[in-house]
Amino acid sequence: MTTIAQIGPDDWEDFRDIRLRALADAPDAFGVTLADARQNSEQDWRDRLAGSSPVLVVRDRAVLLAMGGGWHPPGEPDRMMVWGMWTAPEARGNGCARSLLDRLLDHARRLDATTVELHVTEGNNSARRLYETCGFEATGEWEPLQEGSALQIELMRRVI
Ligand SMILES: CC(C)(COP(=O)(O)OP(=O)(O)OC[C@H]1O[C@@H](n2cnc3c(N)ncnc32)[C@H](O)[C@@H]1OP(=O)(O)O)[C@@H](O)C(=O)NCCC(=O)NCCS
Repeated sequence: MTTIAQIGPDDWEDFRDIRLRALADAPDAFGVTLADARQNSEQDWRDRLAGSSPVLVVRDRAVLLAMGGGWHPPGEPDRMMVWGMWTAPEARGNGCARSLLDRLLDHARRLDATTVELHVTEGNNSARRLYETCGFEATGEWEPLQEGSALQIELMRRVI
């Protein structure tokens, strides 16, 4: 049976493992490289899980199947950004990402955010479809995936 949970600093090794797996699996989907993430210390991983920015995971007993996070840009309590959405290939198509997004949207509502935003890479049609089915709309605002990258990412937005 799968469950969704918010993880905290003491879960840093599970978080590191799923995040590094995501970056290795889908490097074009994320704004951070695997090489950079591998440089993180234990404290870096713990810090990412401390504080008020939630990182949610889907678990099947001890195994993490999917993750996604939310954070508020400094000074912008009305806005939450979703980051790091990833489902393990063997678990895809079962609603993990949709469930995580629903929970992240609930979290944003509880904090009185009015807008939830995220980025999707050009050509990532499965992610774009996911976000569209969850009510996000393309903004037409594009920027490079990473500094100097030829790949572009588009901002998508949902008003809640
Ligand atoms: C995109 C991703 C997170 C979807 O995860 P998932 O758990 O398989 O998604 P879900 O099962 O919750 O799917 C929800 C909806 O998304 C859409 N979707 C998901 N995968 C899809 C695919 N391969 N093709 C078309 N639509 C897809 C569908 O609308 C689906 O609803 P439906 O099953 O009722 O048709 C997953 O494919 C992934 O991790 N990809 C690599 C990393 C990535 O691209 N992350 C996004 C960064 S922006």
